[in-house]
Amino acid sequence: MKQSKIQNPKSNIPIIGVFDSGLGGLTVVRSIRERLPGAEILYLADTAHTPYGDKTHEEIRRYSLEIARFFVEEHRADALVVACNTATSAAIAALRERYPDLPIVGTEPGVKPALQATRSGKIGVMATAATLAGEKYQGLVDRLCGEREVELYEQACPGLAERIEAGRLDAEDTRAMLRRWLEPMREAGVDTIVLGCTHYPIAAAAIRETMGEEVRLIETGGAIARRLRDLVGEAPGPRAPMRIFATGPIDEAAVERIVGERVRIDRIEL
Ligand code: DGL
Repeated sequence: MKQSKIQNPKSNIPIIGVFDSGLGGLTVVRSIRERLPGAEILYLADTAHTPYGDKTHEEIRRYSLEIARFFVEEHRADALVVACNTATSAAIAALRERYPDLPIVGTEPGVKPALQATRSGKIGVMATAATLAGEKYQGLVDRLCGEREVELYEQACPGLAERIEAGRLDAEDTRAMLRRWLEPMREAGVDTIVLGCTHYPIAAAAIRETMGEEVRLIETGGAIARRLRDLVGEAPGPRAPMRIFATGPIDEAAVERIVGERVRIDRIEL
């Protein structure tokens, strides 16, 4: 289907609704702000339901459809970014069915750039259990890795997104958890890791502690921002406002650290 470049008729500033279960999608917002500074970003952190990684696909679909309704019907969003691998896997088909004319960009683990980046042919994939078990990820791997001599080291990371939400990245149990997952990868010669959850770029420094500074960490915010620009058109500066909605508690200092600017945060119930 050909997507039209929709612009907000009021002001010519495109309104982009972006969501995730919590802080993670802000790593995608960072890239969108760089490439489309003139777009108005509305970000919803669904912290009442975080983490998505241990929910059923059915539950995640329900949350995602409700969030899309909020953006489209209450805020007249021109486009939607599912800044969450888990929600993309569970809900993007349902979102596209419900809003066939809305440009919708999803998030998928960066297996393709990892294949281009690896030298050892050994690639780690860190993601939620729900993403790794989803048909979308399996299809991606079958499509891209079928004829390549690569080994994938897939690691579900239960508890990591919650610890990031709770500001417990530096806690000893979080570090021990990361070492337990990553040491086998390092010993196997993994040189590239796909960060298949938008929360994990926030843990990049901690991951490098075990894997070494040279490990390539693949995140997909840049690719998502480019795709969004193709769909809604250029949005050069001046920098448009950004607003954050949270359905539950959110670490405001972490928000500011990740996006690098002060942002108004409103608590809402959906
Ligand atoms: N940030 C999300 C992702 O990209 C999910 C984290 C979670 O809520 O489990 O998969």
